[in-house]
Amino acid sequence: MVSLETRIGKLKLKNPVMAASGTFGTEYGELIDINKLGAYIAKTITLNARIGNPPPRVCETPSGMLNSIGLENGGLDDFIKNKIPGLKKLKIPLIVSIAGDDAGEFKRLARGLSKVKKISALEVNLSCPNVKHGKRNFLIAQDEEATYEIIEAVRASTALTIIAKLSPNVTDIKKIAKAAEKAGADALSLINTFVGMAVDIDTKGPILGNVTGGLSGPAIKPVALCMVRETYKSTRIPVIGIGGIMDYKDAVEFMLCGASAVQMGTANFVDPSASIGIIDGIKKYMTKNKIEEIRGLIGALKT
Ligand SMILES: Cc1cc2nc3c(=O)[nH]c(=O)nc-3n(C[C@H](O)[C@H](O)[C@H](O)COP(=O)(O)O)c2cc1C
Repeated sequence: MVSLETRIGKLKLKNPVMAASGTFGTEYGELIDINKLGAYIAKTITLNARIGNPPPRVCETPSGMLNSIGLENGGLDDFIKNKIPGLKKLKIPLIVSIAGDDAGEFKRLARGLSKVKKISALEVNLSCPNVKHGKRNFLIAQDEEATYEIIEAVRASTALTIIAKLSPNVTDIKKIAKAAEKAGADALSLINTFVGMAVDIDTKGPILGNVTGGLSGPAIKPVALCMVRETYKSTRIPVIGIGGIMDYKDAVEFMLCGASAVQMGTANFVDPSASIGIIDGIKKYMTKNKIEEIRGLIGALKT
């Protein structure tokens, strides 16, 4: 018997597979059994409601997609009042993704969500490329000091497991990962999307209403694998691998590079049951290769 159980901070997951924030709503429950996943990650919320970016907000690119949703959401109070009752019905751990303009907003989000019993962890989204972050003209996860400041503020405001979600739009991912670890993050998830754009040669304009968007899907997987490996080698906390995972083979690649768990985003738009197939595939791979526990896979890359 193989065990797919994995640990992310205080969180014990029955398997390492999750759908990435913003790509998988509870309406997927009409198509698949969400309770088969390791955990459920909600779409990023902010303190106050946001209307998001102008349309079009998504477009297809070679081996990937661009999105510029812009964190559209109803804000913290709306989330607790209108979304939590439905999410409470889930039988798996609930991870809530949060974003803010400054440490004060992150603190208020962390404090407010810590009072909600069903929530097991916060994924701190330091890396959404589609929004302006207050007075800053860079992403939090592009700066070591800003990363440290925000994670430290969240750490001081919650006892929940903290997952810092990092950006690939950086020169050295190790420096940012170490800053998040030092500030008290229990785990790191990476990668969020790459800033990109698409052009319509007939209109001679950008295809996305926001001009730029975030690139995701198979196109980003090789870079994501490399960043996961670098992060795994330079920190001591669990790493969650994200970026172009479409099937179980991709997921196993990330685990060999050091991921304790994986998330898939774009795959959910191609096949809503992709995550379930990935759980089954990992199990079969482990059985075939006589690997009894997930930790036999994590970081087992032969170099
Ligand atoms: C339509 C769309 C919406 C997204 N919304 C969020 C979000 O709200 N919060 C977040 O942290 N990441 C968001 N992401 C990024 C994904 O969670 C993930 O990090 C990224 O897509 C890379 O994974 P993938 O290649 O498997 O899609 C979004 C991605 C897409 C495609």
